[in-house]
Amino acid sequence: MEEYMKNVTVIDHPLVQHKLTLMRDKNTGTKDFRMLLNELSTLMAYEVTRDLPMEEIDIETPVAPMKARVLAGRKLGIVPILRAGLGMAEGVMELIPAAKVGHIGLYRDPVTHKPVSYYHKLPSDTCERDMIVVDPMLATGGSAAEGIRMVKEAGCKTVRLMCLVAAPEGIKALYEQHPDVHIYTAAIDSHLNEHCYIVPGLGDAGDRIFGTK
Ligand code: PRP
Ligand code: URA
Repeated sequence: MEEYMKNVTVIDHPLVQHKLTLMRDKNTGTKDFRMLLNELSTLMAYEVTRDLPMEEIDIETPVAPMKARVLAGRKLGIVPILRAGLGMAEGVMELIPAAKVGHIGLYRDPVTHKPVSYYHKLPSDTCERDMIVVDPMLATGGSAAEGIRMVKEAGCKTVRLMCLVAAPEGIKALYEQHPDVHIYTAAIDSHLNEHCYIVPGLGDAGDRIFGTK
């Protein structure tokens, strides 16, 4: 296995894979695409948070006192990379309602394919939180790497990336720039085409979520 693959978890749960296949289908329209992405994000968040630290506290049930487990440690935050990441944020918030939410606006320049930044607003206590950056597509990896750089610049020490479809090129690029960041994805596809789109992928995620094409 390539060194850069050690930071990747592929979530191959049957429900995740079934919904991803529906999303990939070019005949799936905006309404269903958006709904499926929302559902998938909740299912994936369950796996992304699997290793959160826990502690025991004393409680009393109606029958007896007991020691019971609750989440311990640092608070969480969610950072969608606009636009397409917005389609994942709600689904993650359903599982982590207390999370604060930051926004990072990036688009890929159509010629250079490099990310162009147009907005960012992160929680003021980002340095005290573990952040989950969400963006459905990891293609060249440029957008995710830049978004994660901004989150780290705001003081965050622990970042996870949750995407839906990743290209090997993007996984490698992200590992080279952020070897500490674990990637959770539903699929690793074949390669990028000449326009840096993921093959077979699912097309332009932002356009499919918002119906802009
Ligand atoms: C898409 C996607 C990622 C980026 C991935 O956004 O949502 O942010 O491309 O490509 P990369 O790994 O090569 O950087 P896009 O630039 O199309 O903007 P949008 O979400 O506003 O449509
Ligand atoms: N952005 C997308 O939305 N899709 C791709 O395949 C690559 C970048």
